[in-house]
Amino acid sequence: MPQSKALLSEYDVIIIGAGASGLMCALTAGKRGRNVLVLDHANKIGKKIIISGGGRCNFTNMYTEPANYLSGNAHFCKSALSRYTQWDFQALVDKYQVAWHEKTLGQLFCDDRSQQIVDLLVSECRDAGVTIRTKTKIEQIKCQQHGEAPVYQLNTTLSEFVCQSLVIATGGLSFPTMGATGFGYEVAERFGHELIPVRPALVPFTMPKKWLDHFAELSGVSAEVIASCNGQSFRENLLITHRGVSGPAILQVSSYWNEGDKVSINWLPGMAIYDWLKESQEQRPRAATYTIISQHMTKRLAQALCQHGKLRLMTESGHKTMNHYSHAELEQLAEALEEWELIPSGTEGYKKAEVTLGGVSTDKVSSKTFESRLQSNLFFIGEVLDVTGHLGGFNFQWAWASGHCAGQYV
Ligand code: FDA
Repeated sequence: MPQSKALLSEYDVIIIGAGASGLMCALTAGKRGRNVLVLDHANKIGKKIIISGGGRCNFTNMYTEPANYLSGNAHFCKSALSRYTQWDFQALVDKYQVAWHEKTLGQLFCDDRSQQIVDLLVSECRDAGVTIRTKTKIEQIKCQQHGEAPVYQLNTTLSEFVCQSLVIATGGLSFPTMGATGFGYEVAERFGHELIPVRPALVPFTMPKKWLDHFAELSGVSAEVIASCNGQSFRENLLITHRGVSGPAILQVSSYWNEGDKVSINWLPGMAIYDWLKESQEQRPRAATYTIISQHMTKRLAQALCQHGKLRLMTESGHKTMNHYSHAELEQLAEALEEWELIPSGTEGYKKAEVTLGGVSTDKVSSKTFESRLQSNLFFIGEVLDVTGHLGGFNFQWAWASGHCAGQYV
């Protein structure tokens, strides 16, 4: 039987998107006594929180600072990050006695399940009197001027709603299977906001067939490296996949990569490579190159590296013994291992990207209130904005911080 729509209901605040930033904004505004409704088209709230961090949600990072974010305006994120810090979110997690641990590099994960983070947000929303409705499609947003301030009317598949403050918290385009849409960008454009071109970020690279013919059989092998691209370097693991390369080091540099760019890999991070090769030459002159290199990585990887590209000729496919290198050749070998060239053919796209780079330009959005400077009582928070964090809990911290700050003004 077709459901008949309920009558028009009025709220102080309507938030579109029951993800990380939307829920945080809702509970903050609700605690101020605002009558808040959160609408989401998905069948469940906080889907990305649930799948994040391999099911354990990397909910923040102890070392969060503005330098961990990419944006057309590097200053935009500063105010919110300082007004709602990683310690504030940690205190909320502790209030609910959710056990957590630092995995690496300041990344805080739940010991148990990500669902605990959604549960605590829902509990806070409930205490603050927030109404949440899922499976609700927004069909139309009308804006009418009532005296000085506009009033927003939303036609949805559930009902018609009216509100004073409208918050867009619909996130980016990554993981469309989790409910991601470009809805927020459409609303922004409609009200005159500029969009910074979007592309997938924190995403694995695909590699050309020739490269895969050589390396794909190493799929599953990982090594600690320094990956660099366009002046940014990350020392973390690289993982070879059956379609290219992934792992935290690669995901991090992907945010700085543009089509055609070269990525440089240092396979022996933290080592004075030339000195070590020189010492190896003196101590083990008859050892094959790949035997020496495999002291610092798996033998299969060392062999594959020595049989590929520049290193193949230089090392005679790994078989050249150490005593056959001149000083100049050792220097070249050290350089080849330190600046190994990777030219991706592309990325795995939004299907596998953790985040979306670009989005609603921060130019016409207040960094204090998150209100549009073009349209009164319209707010943008979270990933829909042109603010993208590094891998490691920084994106959730942005969602919490922007949601909290907007929640104080909606
Ligand atoms: P978010 O995506 O959380 O929420 C948007 C909401 O809007 C969704 O509920 C969606 O259904 C709804 N919506 C979209 N379009 C709509 C429409 N038209 N109508 C109604 N509702 C609509 N970050 C991190 O810091 N640590 C981590 O461990 C991870 N891990 C991770 C894993 C994976 C697989 C992904 C894809 C992403 C991560 N992230 C992450 C990134 C993190 O999930 C992301 O940055 C935040 O969830 C962004 O919060 P938002 O509230 O902006 O959007």
